[in-house]
Amino acid sequence: MNDPFEASSRYYDLLYRDKNTSAEVAYVEALLQRHRIAGRDLLEFGSGTGRHGCLLAQRGYRVHGLERSAAMVANAQRTPGFSCQQCDINSTQLERRFNAVLALFHVVSYQTSNPDVQAVFANAARHLHPGGLFLFDVWYSPAVAAQRPELRVKRLQSEDLSIIRIAEPTVHPNENRVDVHYTVMAQELSTGTIQTFEETHPMRHFSLPELDLLAESAGFERLTAEEWLSGAPPSQATWGICLVLQRR
Ligand SMILES: C[S@@+](CC[C@H](N)C(=O)[O-])C[C@H]1O[C@@H](n2cnc3c(N)ncnc32)[C@H](O)[C@@H]1O
Repeated sequence: MNDPFEASSRYYDLLYRDKNTSAEVAYVEALLQRHRIAGRDLLEFGSGTGRHGCLLAQRGYRVHGLERSAAMVANAQRTPGFSCQQCDINSTQLERRFNAVLALFHVVSYQTSNPDVQAVFANAARHLHPGGLFLFDVWYSPAVAAQRPELRVKRLQSEDLSIIRIAEPTVHPNENRVDVHYTVMAQELSTGTIQTFEETHPMRHFSLPELDLLAESAGFERLTAEEWLSGAPPSQATWGICLVLQRR
């Protein structure tokens, strides 16, 4: 498929600099420890620009990232303890196992077809030791239905760039999918040059029974389902839920 991050990867870290990545990494580490992770070897699905992987490496984990977008891999930060390669998380098989597999910031929601999402769950299980943990966050169907996706405009400015991003959702209710069409205008402040591009990100949302079925058929038991970062119980107010599964 086309790489929805091909043009935006250059601006990815600026677009998401409002995210508190340190707090996210502390949250992920606390969840892993709460569920007694057995070691420090992590496989990260959809590692992007390495924003979580690098901080986890600084905390003493050894993180290897699998990332489909060549542009994201090219823009990824590097640090000792964090490595990444370009490949598809649905099919890539490494000849080693890990203590946990992570898929952070909606990576599983990018798997919109049943075969793709089943392949990701099976591949996570394949790369885990028995008892290993699969931690990921996804869009949560009850919240998407209750809140309904809406048009959003995001404005950002750095020392050298000014960016406006318009996000226009199209809801596909029978497919549990929302196609988010982005129009991005990025201006280089030194030259005034403007780059404009468009991308569509198809995003799937999930219910808990659906996730439990996927988990069960891939050989996982669910340990946790809670609101990403807050830890609140999932509800119609919870756009992003975080799950921790354990390989049987
Ligand atoms: C929203 S980004 C999150 C990136 C990173 N985890 C973060 O938190 O910044 C989703 C990432 O998942 C990657 N991705 C989606 N489907 C993938 C697949 N099948 N194989 C590998 N990477 C995939 C995308 O290329 C993208 O970099």
